[in-house]
Amino acid sequence: MTTSLLNQLSQIVGQAFSTIGIDDSFGKTSPSQRRDLGQFQCNGALAAAKQIGRNPREIAQEVVAELEKTGLFTELTLAGPGFINLRLNDDFLLGHISDLAEDSHFGCRSEHPSQKVILDYGGPNVAKAMHVGHLRATIIGESLRRLREFLGDDVISDVHFGDWGLPMGLLIKEIEREQPDLPYFDSDFTGPYPETSPVSVEQLQDLYPAASTRSKEDPAFLESARIATFELQKGRAGYRALWQHMRDISIDETRTDFDLLGAQFTEWNGEADTNDHIPEMMSRLKKEGFSRISEGAIVVDVAEEGDKKKMPPLILEKSDGAVMYGTTDLATIEMRQGQHDPDVILYVVDARQSLHFEQVFRAARKCHSIKPGCHLEHIGFGTVNGKDGKPLKTRDGGVVRLRSLIEDAIAEARKTVKESGMSERLDAEELDDIATKVGIAAIKYADLSNQRMSNYVFDLERFTKFEGRTGPYQMYAAVRIKSMLRKAMDQGLTEGLLQATHDTERNLILALAALPEAVKGATEKNAPNILCDHVYTLSQEFNAFYHECQVLGETDAAIRASRLRLCAITLRQMEQVLYILGIDVPERM
Ligand code: ARG
Repeated sequence: MTTSLLNQLSQIVGQAFSTIGIDDSFGKTSPSQRRDLGQFQCNGALAAAKQIGRNPREIAQEVVAELEKTGLFTELTLAGPGFINLRLNDDFLLGHISDLAEDSHFGCRSEHPSQKVILDYGGPNVAKAMHVGHLRATIIGESLRRLREFLGDDVISDVHFGDWGLPMGLLIKEIEREQPDLPYFDSDFTGPYPETSPVSVEQLQDLYPAASTRSKEDPAFLESARIATFELQKGRAGYRALWQHMRDISIDETRTDFDLLGAQFTEWNGEADTNDHIPEMMSRLKKEGFSRISEGAIVVDVAEEGDKKKMPPLILEKSDGAVMYGTTDLATIEMRQGQHDPDVILYVVDARQSLHFEQVFRAARKCHSIKPGCHLEHIGFGTVNGKDGKPLKTRDGGVVRLRSLIEDAIAEARKTVKESGMSERLDAEELDDIATKVGIAAIKYADLSNQRMSNYVFDLERFTKFEGRTGPYQMYAAVRIKSMLRKAMDQGLTEGLLQATHDTERNLILALAALPEAVKGATEKNAPNILCDHVYTLSQEFNAFYHECQVLGETDAAIRASRLRLCAITLRQMEQVLYILGIDVPERM
């Protein structure tokens, strides 16, 4: 395995510090913000000077003298009070990139042995169609899944269907109002189970808002829904049968959305799957003294000394006996511990649920629901806003459905693709496929390139452009290299030994060599935006190179072969990173 270029450099510079009697940790080197001064810089002499009480410039001079002896640099200069600027010689740079290109993972490896990671994301609900809030959960979650898998972790992805709370009782009672003659409402229903659902997905989506409004206006209706929820949870056969229909059709519907977004789940569990485990859990918590009764409800106290904000207890069972969101989440943790013994569980869910997760995690630790070494983390995210800066709504103030967002993005992409003139070269079917890929790439890149916790404005016109920091731009950059390499192949041109004859080649190599740091940062901070930045820089450096240097048109065969190799390495890395971001690269555009 190759260590990253930056790590190698830091070691080399650290060695120079150590030779002059200073701790090697001061050799930490970083990419230079000023390429005209050097490729890298080390500011360690300043910190070292402070610590040992010497002149920083003198230290830097001594370090430079040591580094000169290595013969690895073409340029070593001092700047300001003691900054060292470094430029590597081509042999070092080319050797490194050749090694990296041989490595299936471009030198990216996890810092720890493979972990068992459960990623909980997507989080659709039976009652409601997936909406814009689920967009981010799905896109960010899937990208983290791919990232972890790339690093060799054993990843389980669970959609955690929302299928067990009061919304279920509300739906049952609303359907009963509309179709009272259905057999499901008979208290001694035992079947037969009608094969087709009495309601369609579209109906469900209208039924829920209707039921929700009714419950606010009519306390008796709300009460009946509460009772229905409780009875469903306790196993009333007719309700279970109806619920099963609702769940099945909802899952089918969400599968289409997840397929469009390329999200891959290994498990399709839901809140309801915890139902059989809950009684066992409740009695253990009671027996071991973790839970207590509060105003008829069963709760676990989760406040801790030194809390800055108020931490209400986690309610596990309401006075009417029904279980809650926190109950199913705690039970899910116990079941995950039992089935998978995970090292990490990550929940990619709207930041507004942070209190809920804090309560659940504290309860899980306190009640020994999870092994002490397991890392639980809520990966929150900000909201998607409209151009008015407020959370995105439909024109009449309703919830924007995920499907319509995706469809709009594809429609907008189709426009851009047509305007770009691509359509003249492609047949209708290919054009459709490309518009879909461009539309999905547009929303994914826009979502992932923003810092996870910040809100962003949903602006399809901007997202689908082929210029700037957009998904389509990244995609197009990769497609262009693909086409060029195809042409090279048709002409019988082959790749050859790498050499550097132009600074834009060196800069491209430096960009390629920076992937391990980007992957590390993205993993540690669960921040795909770092990978978006990386791939953007890579495209920029590639474009600069392609602008300055001939590839197919280069007459020197050795230089041409080297450049073809550089293009091939760039394409492979670009496609890898875009894959982690969930962006498909078409064969041509
Ligand atoms: N269904 C929930 C929602 O729409 C998200 C579920 C997140 N996962 C979890 N284990 N609580 O808000």
